[in-house]
Amino acid sequence: MQNLSRSIRKMKHTCKRTYLFFSLLLFSACTSKNKSDLQIIDNVQLQNTLLKVEVLASEMDVPWDLHYGEDNQLWVTEQGGTVWRIDVTTGERKQLLHINDVWRKRTAGLLGITLHPDFTTQPFVFVNYTLMRDSVIFSRLERYRFQNDTLVEPTTVLEIGGNTAHNGSRLTISPDKKIIWATGDAYTITNAQSDTCLNGKILRLNLDGTIPADNPNPKSYVWAKGFRNMQGLVYSDKGLLYTAEHGDAIEDEINHINKGANYGWPVIEGFHNLESEHVFAAKEHTVEPLYSWTPVVAPSGITFYVHTAIPEWKNSLLVGTLKTQSVRVLKLNDAGTAIVNEEVFFADRYGRIRDICAGKDGAVYISTSNRDWNPASGFPKQGDDRILKISATTKAIHPVLKGSSAGAVTKLNGEELYKQYCASCHKPDGTGVQGIFPALKGSAIVNGSSQELIDLLLKGRKGKDGSAMPAFSFLKDEEMRSLINYIRNSWGNKAASVNKEIIFQKRS
Ligand code: HEC
Repeated sequence: MQNLSRSIRKMKHTCKRTYLFFSLLLFSACTSKNKSDLQIIDNVQLQNTLLKVEVLASEMDVPWDLHYGEDNQLWVTEQGGTVWRIDVTTGERKQLLHINDVWRKRTAGLLGITLHPDFTTQPFVFVNYTLMRDSVIFSRLERYRFQNDTLVEPTTVLEIGGNTAHNGSRLTISPDKKIIWATGDAYTITNAQSDTCLNGKILRLNLDGTIPADNPNPKSYVWAKGFRNMQGLVYSDKGLLYTAEHGDAIEDEINHINKGANYGWPVIEGFHNLESEHVFAAKEHTVEPLYSWTPVVAPSGITFYVHTAIPEWKNSLLVGTLKTQSVRVLKLNDAGTAIVNEEVFFADRYGRIRDICAGKDGAVYISTSNRDWNPASGFPKQGDDRILKISATTKAIHPVLKGSSAGAVTKLNGEELYKQYCASCHKPDGTGVQGIFPALKGSAIVNGSSQELIDLLLKGRKGKDGSAMPAFSFLKDEEMRSLINYIRNSWGNKAASVNKEIIFQKRS
């Protein structure tokens, strides 16, 4: 570790940049507190195991990444720039550091954290955060030394391009002790397929920041390419690497990452099921996801569960989701190469789930994200954001909750389609989010010419400041008709209904 260069490794960046306007957000740091008995808020019955859900920490500000350390402490980043170390038995927490040059906006800020694989002898901590220099956003991998309950000696390992959106970013350490960094495409889709750009990639670095000689190209950090915006990253006990990734309007993905492979973005979304995708796949030998969600669930952190404490979850990927506000248990086959079952827990109960991690103690830890830029209706609630601890117990003190199987959604009416595809941005009551997602209630476009509205829905539109109206051309004519008529006749809107034929003509 000694010869890690003190200076920023200047990369030959050939990424394209999409420039965006920005404003600064203010945030406040939390205070630490002591607790001995954790409050039990729920019980869950699995097939044989009874679970309890306890509040490990509350009043936090978007705990972005949870890492269960060899020291049996939970290492936590808050988006605004604070690093905490939390005792998983008492919930006592210590603030280790506040990074002043963290630039927080929307999904940018202090993001991933991981520890050195030999932490007892080499007490180093790696974090990733966005910063702004001369009005340009960067995403930085920084190393600190843990000493006397604080983090010292900041040393930049690598800096890549950043943006207000699509910065990734999770960190982990591979079984062969390399740093794995899942980056986002920095909101510039041409980056993901570019071999000379480090955005939209899985990067692999030696612990001292140099490029491993056995990378696909020994002169490049790139381990795999073709990603949009990964939010989950984990190794299984078999040494298989998995990611969770946000799709655009459709096709969130769980991927199994192979050395040197291409995962297709922006040409391919989800499975290879379109003619254009088959053509690209044949040329580039792209890899299909293990799993894909449409409508999207917005998967965030993922973890691999291997402990015997909750046998029903053994050999599963556990996924926290933002949009569907749930924990999803994806059962893997024995080889870890396919997902054979999906079960959903805590739907709409705690709000958006930002990260999840399984401890050596057999417990599962989740963090909420209800103070972020896009909270669900009714959130944040008192006590948000929280870190919850899920573990096996013998006695229920609350009415028991159950998981539900994830059934495929079929034939939705206009209101249901709106809830599935539009409400996460424009809100269930059509009022939008000020300055980011326009209100559809009273909108001139919604109430105006059907031609313009259909055009917008088919093609989407890049908005200002890192936001975009996705294209919904994948909706069938009939679905688009009921959706359009729903928004043209809800929340006080009154506009003439459209028929399927207009949509068909517009498409062709
Ligand atoms: C990921 C967030 C997102 C989703 C999901 C989304 N939109 Fe949008 N929408 C936007 C953004 C951002 C804009 C503004 C684009 C711009 O600045 O031109 C927008 C603009 C619009 C407008 C124009 C409104 C106006 O008055 O300017 C309409 C109409 C609209 N969306 C309808 C829909 C419908 C219907 C759906 C669901 C099928 C949907 N949107 C899903 C983000 C979203």
